[in-house]
Amino acid sequence: MIEYWYIFVEFFCVHFDELFFAFCTTLIVSAAILDIRDKNYPPGPMGVPFLGYLPFLQSRAPYLTLTELAQQYGRIYSINLGSLYTIVISDVKMIRDAFSTNGFNGRPPLQINNGLNEGKGILGSDGESYTETRRFVGNTLQTLVYGKGGDPKSSAEPKIQRNVTEFIKDLKNHAGQPAQMDKLVRHHVGNALAEFILGTRFEKDDKSWNYLQLVLQERFRTHTVTNSLNYVSFLRSFTKYANIFKLLKESKSRSQKVFQEIMDKKSQGQVDSNNVQSVLDAYLLEIQRRGKGNGIFAADNVQHVVSDLVYAGWDTTIASLSWLYLYMAVYPSIQERAALEIEQVVGKNREVTMKDFERLHYCKAVILEIWRHRSIQPLGVPHGVTERQKIGDYWIPKGSLVLPLLYAVHHDARIWPNPEEFRPERHLNDDGSLLFSDNLLPFQIGKRACPGEDLGRRIVSLFFANTVSQLRILSPKGSQLNADDVPDCGLTLSPQPYQLRLENRK
Ligand code: HEM
Repeated sequence: MIEYWYIFVEFFCVHFDELFFAFCTTLIVSAAILDIRDKNYPPGPMGVPFLGYLPFLQSRAPYLTLTELAQQYGRIYSINLGSLYTIVISDVKMIRDAFSTNGFNGRPPLQINNGLNEGKGILGSDGESYTETRRFVGNTLQTLVYGKGGDPKSSAEPKIQRNVTEFIKDLKNHAGQPAQMDKLVRHHVGNALAEFILGTRFEKDDKSWNYLQLVLQERFRTHTVTNSLNYVSFLRSFTKYANIFKLLKESKSRSQKVFQEIMDKKSQGQVDSNNVQSVLDAYLLEIQRRGKGNGIFAADNVQHVVSDLVYAGWDTTIASLSWLYLYMAVYPSIQERAALEIEQVVGKNREVTMKDFERLHYCKAVILEIWRHRSIQPLGVPHGVTERQKIGDYWIPKGSLVLPLLYAVHHDARIWPNPEEFRPERHLNDDGSLLFSDNLLPFQIGKRACPGEDLGRRIVSLFFANTVSQLRILSPKGSQLNADDVPDCGLTLSPQPYQLRLENRK
């Protein structure tokens, strides 16, 4: 007994500093939690010191744990992620009201998601340079989508259609043998986006292209909002986590290098103001016009913007189409109904256009139902509170993180009866016309809502409808695909890699 006592005293003396620090921090965190709970702050479960509620979240499906908590604590509740005070909202009206208010439209201080960007770019930045960047990027994307002065010839559609044609040609080459869909979708949809963002296309065997795809996939996996590395800085003193962080930093700077090489190549020539083909062209033209690149037009910021657009645009658009193709193989009757609608509206001898979509209600409903059922970004993209705010009767302190829990919104049985059923008809009126719901938020809402929405919708619609119109999408011979396998959950939710069998319809 005396020996144990001796060991304890010795340990206490040697580690006095660390123990004192841990004691004080626990006291401060607990005091802060109790303080918050005393005042009129949203209810929620207690976590543990330093880690908050992180250890209790399902690692592969944190959105399910958070949805269960919403059932217990209500449509707005609070938890600690690490020691970051977090508000989780699954009520559309509250999300809408909050995100239309300036004080709710910052980004939280997440060490991986936003910290690696050092406040640059668009996705993770705040303040004046963010506002300027957002305006420039938003206007540029609108011109690229609708054409200069609204001229359809310079709009996004012909460019997307060329990529769709290449994609279908490639799929037809696989007719009869299994096609590895995740790879094919990544290459062709990724290329369509690369044209709008970088003004360039890549061959399948291009080294930089393959590297970018690898880095992006890695980023999708690690950049989940609930990754402990986002919150708990002392984890970086452990070799395993320090290595992950180092790898992320290295891969980021290597992909920035690829973007810089493309910029250097492009800036050797003059950009024609009548022929701006990509966001990068628009930046180079502005730098040309100003005579130098500074402020938001400095090379470093442009690299970050381009990288953010690639990151935000690729993953979401590719995930949307990957789910759509998988579901068409799993639900053949839904696929046949979509194909029949296209045949009746468009016929068999031409491509499906965006104009056709005014009458392709069922096809539109299938896309909306994928965005609901699969909730491509189940935790939404988190916002940061820049000034103390109020929602309903609750106060939200400055510096909080706000999670719009889109999965819970899209699976709320009070809004969507039998939410686990994949049923496109729920988006149709009795007369077959489209029923728009305010409760579907795939692009989020408010001042920071996705600036790539119009482009994303066009790419998803044209790739999906033209593929279904020309090819029958089937499970590989001898196996039945399943849409219920646990998906890959990073910032977005993607299906596990899968193969399909394709048959010509025409
Ligand atoms: C189906 C496709 C897409 C979906 C479902 C989607 C969804 C979203 C969501 C939910 C957000 C978060 C908004 C917020 O913080 O309130 C977002 C932000 C963003 N998206 Fe998209 N997106 C898609 C396609 C695209 C495309 C094609 C691009 C670019 C070409 C893009 C660029 C961005 C950017 C830059 C942001 C950050 C905006 C900001 O912080 O101000 N997205 N997107």
